[in-house]
Amino acid sequence: MEPSAFPGVYRSGRDLYTINALPGESVYGEPRRTEGGKEYRQWDPFRSKLAAYLLNGARPPLFEGIRSALYLGGSHGTTVSHLGEILPDAPIFVIEKSPRSFAPLLALCKRRANLLPILADAQLPERYAADAGTVDFLYQDIAQRGQARIFSENADACLASGGRGLLMLKVRSVSQSRSAPSVLAEARRELSAHRLRVGPVVDLAPFSRDHLALPVTA
Ligand SMILES: C[S@@+](CC[C@H](N)C(=O)[O-])C[C@H]1O[C@@H](n2cnc3c(N)ncnc32)[C@H](O)[C@@H]1O
Repeated sequence: MEPSAFPGVYRSGRDLYTINALPGESVYGEPRRTEGGKEYRQWDPFRSKLAAYLLNGARPPLFEGIRSALYLGGSHGTTVSHLGEILPDAPIFVIEKSPRSFAPLLALCKRRANLLPILADAQLPERYAADAGTVDFLYQDIAQRGQARIFSENADACLASGGRGLLMLKVRSVSQSRSAPSVLAEARRELSAHRLRVGPVVDLAPFSRDHLALPVTA
């Protein structure tokens, strides 16, 4: 097991791992491995766009200096369980609007002190901005129209000046008929209208088809 270019993320060959906060337990059936007295959970890039992004060309800095985070679209908590292990001292506010997904997310977060779940619609950041406060990192993985607008409005509400973010853009959720470059250009326009700077865009294929990762700086 070797440290990767990203603090808190480890590599063994092509596989990524994080240090298990609850040794002896997996979250989504992922393999675990013990080495040097530490237990690591394997991080599946086919289940997590953040892992796919790290493997496909993410560039540091990404997690350095982050003291708090806002995560939009928590679902059952697959990715956020790893993010919480990468940033063990950072409170991570996790927004999920589906009560069905929120139940397993809540069960996960109850056992992981830095994960703070909120049942809310990410289109209404005013409902949770006071709880989340100002964060250093904004992550969004929600499949619906208006993804760049939702990200921008959450950045306006909660992201610190100089803070970093990642928008996992699902091209097909924006439009069934338009090309990926046209959807990406529109997202860029929306983000820059909110004074957000977009770094090198990374295609998440073959792990996640139709998804682009947009690293953003406020
Ligand atoms: C692709 S899944 C997220 C997977 C998760 N990020 C992971 O990697 O473990 C998208 C989630 O976003 C949620 N979602 C969609 N629109 C939302 C909104 N407007 N506000 C909050 N959550 C939303 C869905 O209910 C779903 O659970």
